[in-house]
Amino acid sequence: MHKTTESGLNKELVQLYQSVYGDNPYYDASECYKELQLLMYRYQEQRTPKQIIRDQNKQGWYLDEHIVGMTLYVDLFSDDLAGFVNRIDYIKELGVNFIHFMPILRGRPDENDGGYAVMDYKSINPEIGDFEEFDKLLGLLHKDDIHTCVDFVINHTAKEHEWAKKALSGDATYMNYYLMHTTKETPDAYDVTVPEVFPGVAPGNFTYYDEIGRYVMTSFYEFQWDLNYKNPKVFEGIIDILLFLANKGVDMIRLDAIPFIWKKLGTTCRNLDEIHPILRMMHLIVDLVCPSVALLGEAIVEATEIVGYFGEEELECDVMYNAPLMVNLWNSLATRDTRLMTEDTNRLKVLEGGAWINYVRCHDDIGWGFNEAMTKNLGFDPYLHKQFLIDFYLGTYKDTFSVGELYEYDEKTGDARNCGTMASLCGLEKGLAASDHYQIELAIKRIQLLNAVIMSSTGIPLIYSGDEMAMLNNHDYKRDEKKAHDSRWLHRMKFDWQAYEDLDKKVDKETYIELSCKSQVYTGMKKLIATRKGLSILRSEIKQFAVPLDNKHVYCIYKIDKNDLFVGFFNFSEDRQIVKTSVLASHLGHSDMKDLLQGKRVNLDGESVLLGPYEYLWLVKDTVEK
Ligand code: GLC
Repeated sequence: MHKTTESGLNKELVQLYQSVYGDNPYYDASECYKELQLLMYRYQEQRTPKQIIRDQNKQGWYLDEHIVGMTLYVDLFSDDLAGFVNRIDYIKELGVNFIHFMPILRGRPDENDGGYAVMDYKSINPEIGDFEEFDKLLGLLHKDDIHTCVDFVINHTAKEHEWAKKALSGDATYMNYYLMHTTKETPDAYDVTVPEVFPGVAPGNFTYYDEIGRYVMTSFYEFQWDLNYKNPKVFEGIIDILLFLANKGVDMIRLDAIPFIWKKLGTTCRNLDEIHPILRMMHLIVDLVCPSVALLGEAIVEATEIVGYFGEEELECDVMYNAPLMVNLWNSLATRDTRLMTEDTNRLKVLEGGAWINYVRCHDDIGWGFNEAMTKNLGFDPYLHKQFLIDFYLGTYKDTFSVGELYEYDEKTGDARNCGTMASLCGLEKGLAASDHYQIELAIKRIQLLNAVIMSSTGIPLIYSGDEMAMLNNHDYKRDEKKAHDSRWLHRMKFDWQAYEDLDKKVDKETYIELSCKSQVYTGMKKLIATRKGLSILRSEIKQFAVPLDNKHVYCIYKIDKNDLFVGFFNFSEDRQIVKTSVLASHLGHSDMKDLLQGKRVNLDGESVLLGPYEYLWLVKDTVEK
């Protein structure tokens, strides 16, 4: 990691800066660059002795197999930052040592897209606390070697942010911070090629403001104003916040919605080439000022575009969400067919030094993005297949086990995304409602299976808080007018501490069944985490491969490192499956293997392995004499 010398990094930064801002229409680029350097210098000077030690020892920390993450909303998890202190034991007990705090910075007071419309990046949402409390909390977490990540919304600010307020008052300097047009002609021209992010709840890409007589680009909600990255002052302002957050002591910063940050007429305004030098500059600045801090990119776009954000030759984002794996997991569960997942695992190459975040659910919806050609090749009609998945996870497909809701349903095209908690989407809600013990059992097996894949895949496994306790969909959001229109709140609810405390208690029969499910999921997760941490071969530097088997229901991955070998089998069907291991034996030799979770012994000698419904095996070389 970060092998280049300081002068090499500076040289690259100067060149990139010149290429992006050299002939910008607003300012003298060399003056701006000097200011940027002063800013970097100031933040570098302010690194605390503890942070400097982390900068020396912790570069690349996210590649380690011991890192297991959880993403959570502070208010839903522990009411506030002060309350979080009392929940550290819970996190430790589970084995989690990396926390992604969902937006904690001060959002606009009204509706704010779950915190993604920030009006002040340098203060914390007063409902959960302040930076003093955050600092105290980070101190405690670091003592326990728990890493942290915060969100940084870089594509847009809230319209209540001071830059936007100045722009709204007619200040030309700040009007240039955003993308504004006096006539409707250009916005209309953009609308021809730019798709809508929220076609249902926030249609269109521009909003007209009477007070300034301008159309402002608002790709997301009306209250989220897109920033103008062509303006070097915007870049400087963003770097100022980035380094401010880094110096607050966090270990990772999540750059929100990166595919959107550069706009060009006549394009989709997504994933444009101009984004890459900007991200690379951010990485260089972090390397120079606070090298232990990792950048996590959020880009829920086409798979090859996602890997592009790791960078082509030099790192841009250190970590990216493995959205393709997430979608493939849900696809495989519905179709009982793992071929797309196998192909993607082998197709998507992560740049050296980069790592995936592997997850099953998060705070957002599930969007069904597949590579069309690959889907067709495997015999699926892309349109019909998407419709099948939408219906399946909504719960209307006749043989589904799932219940969820639609997100951003488009009446004209029938397009939609899906929402729901992991447990409900895996069948637990339906099974419990029908008191169908067999279905309940299968649902738990599905949950365990998905967890087993993310816990053994290369990258950081990230649990969405509540999923480790099999929390079900919650419909309360429909009674809150600020949330009712956004079904993502179906899976954003208060953590059920009562259920956690009751896990080991004797309770009445009805509650018992649900609690015993939670208990199985929770203990299963804990076991997977503990087992993962003992497997150094799972660290991110070691490449992982997927093996196309003669049985499409079973996903198989392997990793090999000198004498170490890991093989994972995952049966995505409720039927028993037999797989021939000859293809593995030809790659990996005829090893005697042992499953770390159940203790089963398997030989990769070309014979076959029998897997029960949704069964998975984590195999390593069996060194015990028999
Ligand atoms: C990201 C967030 C999502 C939010 C959007 C706009 O995609 O994950 O929740 O709506 O950015 O900021």
